[in-house]
Amino acid sequence: MAPTAIESEHPYEGTAEVQGDAARAVRQARMRSYLMCPPTYFDVVYAINDWMRPGEPVDRDRAMSQWCELADTYRRLGHEVLTIDPAPGLPDMVFVTDSGLVVDGVALGARYRSPERRAEAGHVFRWFQQNGLTRPAVPRYVNEGEGDFLVVGDVILAGTGFRSDPRSHAEASAHLNRRVITLNLVNPRFYHLNTAVGVLDDATIAYLPAAFSPESRALLERMFPDAVVAAESDTDWLGLNLVSDGANVVLPVQAARLAEQLSDRGYEPVPVDYSEFLKSGGGIKCCTLELRGFRKLRDAGNQG
Ligand code: ARG
Repeated sequence: MAPTAIESEHPYEGTAEVQGDAARAVRQARMRSYLMCPPTYFDVVYAINDWMRPGEPVDRDRAMSQWCELADTYRRLGHEVLTIDPAPGLPDMVFVTDSGLVVDGVALGARYRSPERRAEAGHVFRWFQQNGLTRPAVPRYVNEGEGDFLVVGDVILAGTGFRSDPRSHAEASAHLNRRVITLNLVNPRFYHLNTAVGVLDDATIAYLPAAFSPESRALLERMFPDAVVAAESDTDWLGLNLVSDGANVVLPVQAARLAEQLSDRGYEPVPVDYSEFLKSGGGIKCCTLELRGFRKLRDAGNQG
């Protein structure tokens, strides 16, 4: 079955307009389906990235209220939020985006690098199976889902250097029938691709050049000459770990400069406080797995 541009069949009426001279840029939002996992067992009890300090207390009530606010924000913007049950003993399962990649209704599962997170992949994989996603595949090589894979229009940007095995890039390309572009991450603070790149729409990204090797940086410059270049004062709050529907960009409230850059480009920044999750090196996008093509699949199933 050939892949189709499923989401374009679900236009969402919200738009944001650029003021002044650049008035041609009218941003178009598209309705999305997101999978989220409540932070019921969220904690920092091991350190698998530079942000984590086991022993530093986590305020779970605060985490839960920030997470609920994020889910409410998506619903308010017209998106669909599905949830998966959290599992005890998996304190990072709230970062569900790392557990898979879904394109055109086809799912690729994850395979975690660290043993601490390994069991998460199975829970999310079963969710894919139970919810009718097409051809769910268990990967052979380590890949941390949308932590390292970012879909930009027809291509998938794929990070490596800290987590995902570069061989997982070809594997994803074959399974999902998309072109995959390998990018090398070099700064341990930005260990997943989604900490260094935020996808704004099908053709535009925001990113932190310093997070990449010189070759990958040059490649990004060539591919995205109009990219928004983020400041470290914003990326220190995981400002690039954002979720955009094409017009509305949900990002950390502390990433003030980035919000300004985005409104200059005609996007509508939607700030939320997501700071409790920084203790684990996670942010907004880490908690939001996009289920591309999910509604179309479900609607087709209901009719058939
Ligand atoms: N503590 C988690 C880890 O290190 C955080 C994951 C955040 N996810 C992300 N895509 N950056 O694996």
